[in-house]
Amino acid sequence: MVDPPFLRACRREPVPFTPIWLMRQAGRYQPEYRAIRAKASFLDLCKNPELAAEVTVTAVDRLGVDAAIIFADILLILEPLGVGLEFTKDEGPVIRRPVRTAEAVSQIPERTDIEGSFGFVMEAIRRARRELDARTPRVPLIGFSGAPFTLASYLVDGHGTRGYLHTKRLMYRDPAAWHALMVRLSDAIAGYLNAQIAAGAEAVQLFDSWVGCLSPDDYRLFAQPYTKRALAALAPGVPVIHFGTGTAALLELMRDAGGDVMGLDWRVDLGEAWDRLGHSVGIQGNLDPVVLLAEPAEIRRRAAGILERAGGRPGHIFNLGHGVLADTPFDHVRGLVETVHELSTR
Ligand code: CP3
Repeated sequence: MVDPPFLRACRREPVPFTPIWLMRQAGRYQPEYRAIRAKASFLDLCKNPELAAEVTVTAVDRLGVDAAIIFADILLILEPLGVGLEFTKDEGPVIRRPVRTAEAVSQIPERTDIEGSFGFVMEAIRRARRELDARTPRVPLIGFSGAPFTLASYLVDGHGTRGYLHTKRLMYRDPAAWHALMVRLSDAIAGYLNAQIAAGAEAVQLFDSWVGCLSPDDYRLFAQPYTKRALAALAPGVPVIHFGTGTAALLELMRDAGGDVMGLDWRVDLGEAWDRLGHSVGIQGNLDPVVLLAEPAEIRRRAAGILERAGGRPGHIFNLGHGVLADTPFDHVRGLVETVHELSTR
């Protein structure tokens, strides 16, 4: 049987139209999601395989996208470290006991018991796959993890941050502790992604959302080796999408760290970035999520611009440059999916 367009695009094979999915396609902009969240906390939702699978599949059914992403969060992997992960209503995610010293790093277990800690994610993947395989055409499922740097930035700073002061201070002042922390994270990430693949994820995305705060030299020293280590340990043959924001200065280095498809934010010109990276990788992106707050005609114009820059090259997966914003009108998101399919049909 022929693979669905999303998986073919991951391998840079020709496709009948440009496949599209959206980061945070299951989220608060969606009425069905808000109804479920009125009854369950975010963590309870993530930990309930039946509900997590339902949220995953509902987003696909309502939007008509070409891939599903399992409903979970990049920060879940930090929970078994005992650092006090919470999702608060006002501050977003917080780590109550951030890891800021060599002493704190040494208390992080060298191994995470993936099956024991994340059986609920694997069960959600198995359930979602059963549902998605029954769709015509069948819809592939993406697994994901945070990348070592982005996870470390939450673990060390304790919350989303502008300056990454604690993270960078640990990196600059105690490179040995940083190394020990990053080795533990990369190994946990590899184990977590491989378990998702074994459970049924057909592609995986590595989110290095905040790595754009590093200079190229610092990326090379403090982030790239660990991303490389995690990606090199993955089961072969499963496409990897490697995503970050603010990464214009880092793209070649990120490509060299690994991944079949590079995820771009909107700050770079998709065509120029692809020319720079060469055609040994696919490209995912890169509409500014705020464009979805504009009128449909403007959304269409911008989507057409991105498709034009991709120029029909095999290996383009349409996506936003970052996640769907909570106050996006649902119809605009649905309309974008239709527009991309319509404009790209060959
Ligand atoms: O549909 C999907 O994309 C799958 C689910 C998914 C979520 N988070 C659900 C979520 C995915 C892939 C993520 C990844 C994630 N989580 C990232 C990387 C992508 C990115 O945005 O850069 C990051 C940095 C996080 C950490 C995180 N989780 C933040 C900063 C927040 C708070 C911001 C916000 O939007 O509330 C979360 C919470 C979160 N993760 C929500 C969702 C749907 C909202 C929680 C709610 O329902 O209140």
